[in-house]
Amino acid sequence: MSVIPTRHYALRTPHLIGRTTETDRIQRAVKDWLRSYAFYFYGPGGIGKTRLLEEIGDRIKQVSFSTRLVGWSGIIDLYLSGMHSNSGIEKAICEAIDPDREYFAHYWDMRSNFEHQHREHMDAHQREMLRTQLAAAFIGAFNTLAGKTRVVLTFDTVELIQYENDLIQTICQVQEEAITVKTWLLETLPQLNNTVIIFAGRPKSMKLDADLRAAFADKSDWCYAAYELAGFDEAETAYYFQEIIAMAIRQKRMRHTIEVEPAWLYAYTGGRPIRLALLIDLAVYSGGDFEDLFSRRLSDHRSPDERWHEIAQRVIARIQELETGYPVVDTLPYLALTRQGLDAKLLHYLEPGWSLDECQQRLDGMKRFTFVKSRPDWPRIYLHDEMYDVLDDPTMGCMALPDRIRW
Ligand SMILES: Nc1ncnc2c1ncn2[C@@H]1O[C@H](COP(=O)(O)OP(=O)(O)O)[C@@H](O)[C@H]1O
Ligand SMILES: [Mg+2]
Repeated sequence: MSVIPTRHYALRTPHLIGRTTETDRIQRAVKDWLRSYAFYFYGPGGIGKTRLLEEIGDRIKQVSFSTRLVGWSGIIDLYLSGMHSNSGIEKAICEAIDPDREYFAHYWDMRSNFEHQHREHMDAHQREMLRTQLAAAFIGAFNTLAGKTRVVLTFDTVELIQYENDLIQTICQVQEEAITVKTWLLETLPQLNNTVIIFAGRPKSMKLDADLRAAFADKSDWCYAAYELAGFDEAETAYYFQEIIAMAIRQKRMRHTIEVEPAWLYAYTGGRPIRLALLIDLAVYSGGDFEDLFSRRLSDHRSPDERWHEIAQRVIARIQELETGYPVVDTLPYLALTRQGLDAKLLHYLEPGWSLDECQQRLDGMKRFTFVKSRPDWPRIYLHDEMYDVLDDPTMGCMALPDRIRW
């Protein structure tokens, strides 16, 4: 098998495909200055939730929404441990929309006072007062800024919203008070002015939808709505496939184009970008065809989900046979097991036979795959949810690993 040239990033189309209903809706909301909107986009892993949030950020950065100023929080991903507390989220928002601490100066002062006071005894009543004061300072500063600037907040992976600590709990080591991120979102966000909030999450978080709906319901200046994100249609599926294959050829990741019937691609993936990406990764890095995975008949009445589940394990088994300079089959199980992300240090700890350098090279090598999630500002890399789902199956061989490694 030939070794794939080094690429430390995954293939992705330069432009968003489809999603015009969603982007138009968001664009209209952002332009509707002074009214506030909260939208909740939900859909399964790999459908394109994060990509939609990235697109919103790109458009804001180009100031194409409006000639007026728009501030953006960046993507606040609740998967990341820094976002598992109210204080972590407030910090991310402040730093993104007010990097010079012009509006949030008082808030930052209060925060550092809390941090200095933490060793002293504080009873529940005092804690509650401090918490209320800090929240009020945050909202006050935010709304002063929002008097001049439209603000867009984007929250990703909101299905993971049950976290039970905040700055004050951590400082006072109070575990029993369930001051959750969810409570913070539900109580704080509806008090903000001149803001558009986009939540993105998997459908299992529909309880959150009901809670958000209720939280915004009695706020006359807020409009809340939830929308499902569906897969690409057949034409978009074909377009996505062609775009990425063409890009792989331009970047010399593969030599020859491959032709696949769009009807088959659609029938086996349901237009889910991550499933298409797995097939594309396979085609690009094995330099070959994958049509033999598909059965010759499309006339049966199976759903795309059923068809995908029929081939998913074989797709991943073939991906495991690929090489990045190191066999994918050796590294992938470690990624499957470390749901909180993997970096070279942790990999070296789990597999001391591989030097730290080698671990770094192995992980860098994995970044070429679309099913690996990495961002320049993230110290660790992750797998896409769809991969975790498939690799959890004992027949995939990844779950045998815990016996071999020293924990
Ligand atoms: N509308 C789109 N246009 C182009 N690429 C997309 C689109 N939606 C998703 N993708 C690509 O599909 C992959 C999975 O999308 P992602 O946004 O990570 O899914 P999710 O956040 O729902 O799990 C990514 O590589 C992403 O770039
Ligand atoms: Mg995502």
